[in-house]
Amino acid sequence: MDATTADRSTPVAEAAPAVPWWRHAVVYQVYLRSFADADGDGIGDIAGLRARLPWISDLGADAVWVNPWYRSPMVDGGYDVADYRDIDPRFGTLDDVRSLLADAHALGLRVIADIVPNHTSAEHPWFREALAAEPGSAARARYLFRDGRGPGGDEPPNNWLSIFGGRAWTRAPRTGDRPAQWYEHLFDPRQPDLDWASTEVREAFEAILRFWFDLGIDGFRIDVAQGLVKADGLPDVPPGVGPWVGGLSHPYWGQDGVHGIYRSWRRIADGYPGDRVLIGEVAPTEDDRHARRARFVRPDELHQVFNFDLLAAAWDVDAVATAIEAPLAANASVGAPVTWVLGNHDTPRQVTRYGRASTAAPSREEQARSHPTDVALGTRRARAAALLLLALPGCAYLYAGEELGLPDMDDLPDHVIDDPVWRRSGFTIRGRDGCRVPLPWSGDAPPFGFSPPGVGTWLPQPAAWAGLTAAGQEHDALSMLALYRAALRLRRAHPGLAGERLLRVPAPDGVLALERDAGLRCLVNIAGEPVAIPAGSRVLLRSDTGAADGDPLPRDAAAWLEPAP
Ligand code: NOJ
Repeated sequence: MDATTADRSTPVAEAAPAVPWWRHAVVYQVYLRSFADADGDGIGDIAGLRARLPWISDLGADAVWVNPWYRSPMVDGGYDVADYRDIDPRFGTLDDVRSLLADAHALGLRVIADIVPNHTSAEHPWFREALAAEPGSAARARYLFRDGRGPGGDEPPNNWLSIFGGRAWTRAPRTGDRPAQWYEHLFDPRQPDLDWASTEVREAFEAILRFWFDLGIDGFRIDVAQGLVKADGLPDVPPGVGPWVGGLSHPYWGQDGVHGIYRSWRRIADGYPGDRVLIGEVAPTEDDRHARRARFVRPDELHQVFNFDLLAAAWDVDAVATAIEAPLAANASVGAPVTWVLGNHDTPRQVTRYGRASTAAPSREEQARSHPTDVALGTRRARAAALLLLALPGCAYLYAGEELGLPDMDDLPDHVIDDPVWRRSGFTIRGRDGCRVPLPWSGDAPPFGFSPPGVGTWLPQPAAWAGLTAAGQEHDALSMLALYRAALRLRRAHPGLAGERLLRVPAPDGVLALERDAGLRCLVNIAGEPVAIPAGSRVLLRSDTGAADGDPLPRDAAAWLEPAP
């Protein structure tokens, strides 16, 4: 399964390299409303992203994944789509997308859009039509409308819970003579779930894919990819099983029928030139999750599924090693690379997570409590984790801002919180806005170049980010930005990071040592005593600032080593 390092400076339009680009790419995730605001309304937009494309390219990314940009009431940051073929005016226009694609492709960057097929917005014309229509009508058949249980149909049709809190059913206003029906939503009530048993729904989404592929989009990240198909009859979730935690008999995660949808999407993607890709957000939590995830990346299905194990794993050697070895083994069985990720717009940023007493991704109960963060400790570990991530074979996703070492903003005032989780949890879980604060680009006070001076950003930025701006880190050789740039440069050019094999090699207690095909090693001291740099190796890069190459590697640090000539 060896791969050679492809020349990724080649413009996208030129001949495809021998190894498909997505098997070893670095994808930079842009949460659009928090990235860069060109029109001065305090919300990031496509023109702002377009202006920063050269910066992303210089960083060393191969592609950009943009969170949903469609017309939307923004109940869930755009994951509630009212029109899948138009851009929300807050973000720009379709012409802005055309210009973005032209500029990105000229720089050799691909652009991946986010598609949201599990649910629409309640403002989508289909849902409006469905609400106005009678039970049993064709308009209602596009969604999951059902009669309630109990006298008068007053109880929801089953026991499903919403991932955002509360139940997964909302009663629709009554139409006609029958008792009012309920509609199902795995997320917010303003995000009604589509019924993928409907041929009309399937065909509509295939047409939407073609619309964007025709425009030049290089791929799609598929939201809630494992949840589209619900079990026949919508049976209750077994007792004691939460909305996220599945099991072989779970009625809405990973149902067999979902795979047929992606086989047909794959045929569509393959019909376009230029290695278009499909990436699934597939987050099973069961013990057999690696095998389950691998089913989605069989050769005729999706190209990638996120492996969220590293993002969830505690800063602990065994936890980290398992999070790497298990998915590698499972994906190898279907010939797919693993897609790694440490952070995204749904989870605490690395600096924050690794700086807390409990370093695993917080459970729902933990999210309802506040946690003190040691930012200096979190930063050291985030630096080490970046070298670990970028040493792994496969594709790596970076969440914009991690290259600046941003922490979460844990003390956002209650009144600015926009995440629907806050309301749905009865104001007990503050949700995900802490990792969505607009990026600091330059200057020494908010809006830090995110918006024009004097503009208030959609979430406030902490004054302390004056020390974390992109411009401020630009010429600081010890900055997080310098570390990411150096690592990405090596990842692209160094033959030691080519290929798709990884070996865990013996290391002292608390230390993880991984070796790539050509002998390059990544040493991560997670919890051990300082460890000597092995004789016969040369340090390519280390995460601890200010250390000399030959110094022992302390706890919470990582190094890339190559065999000395
Ligand atoms: C996963 C997305 O990443 C998240 O932000 C969103 O709230 C849910 N899917 C629902 O669309």
